[in-house]
Amino acid sequence: MGSDTLTVIDNRTGRQYEIPIHDGAINAPDLRQIRVSEEDFGLVSYDPGFMNTAPCQSKITFIDGDQGILRYRGYPIEELAEKSTYLEVAYLILHGELPTKPQLDDWSYNVIHHSILHENIKKFIDGFHHDAHPMGMLVSTVGALSTFYTDAKHIFDAESRTKQTYRLVAKMPTIAGFAYRHSIGMPYAYPDNDLSYTGNFLNMLFKMTELKYQPHPVLERALDVLFILHADHEQNISTNVMRGVGSAHSDPYCAVAAAAAALYGPLHGGANEQVLKMLSEIGHKDKVPSFIQKVKAGDGRLMGFGHRVYKNYDPRAKIIKKVAYDVFELKGRNPLLDIALELERIALEDDYFIKRKLYPNVDFYSGLIYQSMGLQIDMFPVLFAIARTIGWIAHWEEMLLDPEQKMKIARPRQLYRGAEKRGYVPIEKRK
Ligand code: CMC
Repeated sequence: MGSDTLTVIDNRTGRQYEIPIHDGAINAPDLRQIRVSEEDFGLVSYDPGFMNTAPCQSKITFIDGDQGILRYRGYPIEELAEKSTYLEVAYLILHGELPTKPQLDDWSYNVIHHSILHENIKKFIDGFHHDAHPMGMLVSTVGALSTFYTDAKHIFDAESRTKQTYRLVAKMPTIAGFAYRHSIGMPYAYPDNDLSYTGNFLNMLFKMTELKYQPHPVLERALDVLFILHADHEQNISTNVMRGVGSAHSDPYCAVAAAAAALYGPLHGGANEQVLKMLSEIGHKDKVPSFIQKVKAGDGRLMGFGHRVYKNYDPRAKIIKKVAYDVFELKGRNPLLDIALELERIALEDDYFIKRKLYPNVDFYSGLIYQSMGLQIDMFPVLFAIARTIGWIAHWEEMLLDPEQKMKIARPRQLYRGAEKRGYVPIEKRK
């Protein structure tokens, strides 16, 4: 067995370099020594879309995309989805270990008791147009929390970080609930501290005139499992944004707003919304083959399919499919399910999808469940954002505590391909 190094010969100069390999990676700054002259900046690696770049080390989430494996802090997602609760998983993701009973009680108490929003936030939400997208309301409102909690800027103070963590995990569902009620013209429903995290969220969405809202245990559990599945997914774009903004030492509310803005995109967390639109547009099972032909011809994508990391069935999609049937049993079968099942069947047998290793991802079935629960489709990415908040915070904290990263602003290089130096042309001489 040779040494853990990479021998590189630069054919421009004939020079040879030994570059150390650690954990299957080279340090990109080691490439800088490869230069043709003293003035040369040195070699950089070019990687649009971060196809093969690890910007950090992390101990939070493990994914093996070829095998379809997802683990939080070493625990398989299947076990967590079956045996745990969202708040317990949130604790695990943040602290690295499953909580003891007193730890879980303390964590749950603190999260539940930070769910109320400052009354001025209501006025803020009131100001949105009646048809404002709830994700736009969530992004701006969570960013606005930065102005209410100015202590949040003390990002290297552990006590302050803990406080902001309680607030963020607790208030995201309240903002989401208020945004939803605003969009359907209903009075805001305040948090109920007697309920579980997801039970309370259902209360803030659906409470009508009853004095006390009782969440249905099947829906409460379904939402809890969905939240567990969405809690973290290592270096996806929104987490990358959270770390990127965090690296500038912005406060966590601004960083979460930025991360949520990334999540809003249709290629990321906005995909579940697009899946429902796509299924409605297809309209009938019989139209699936012609829709697939269109996708193969390059006219649009099959939303809810494909993943940068998973080149196998997304393990989350498998669990979600099971949860979907529990919800349909209670609420009736979603008529779009037949179209989804037919899409999945045909796509999984089709060469185009097989060759490119395109399988259903987490977003393929989640929207069907949310719709059956009675939620309008523009709320789907909001639900994703609530669940992912703990993942963003855990990565943000990991970055701040990492001696290699805490004082390093995320600042990639570029390959400049623009004009060479040239002189200013007065306007009357321009063509
Ligand atoms: N439908 C049809 N073709 C696809 C799809 C799709 N959903 N996804 C990828 N392809 C094709 C793509 O056209 C390309 O083909 P070719 O090699 O002929 O050019 C090939 O597969 C590789 O695609 P890519 O864009 O290089 O793959 P990527 O890893 O950069 O993109 C993705 C990953 C998730 C952005 C992409 O698969 C996609 O757009 N999927 C639909 C949107 C979606 O469901 N997003 C949710 C992702 S899971 C939740 C989350 O983590 O946010």
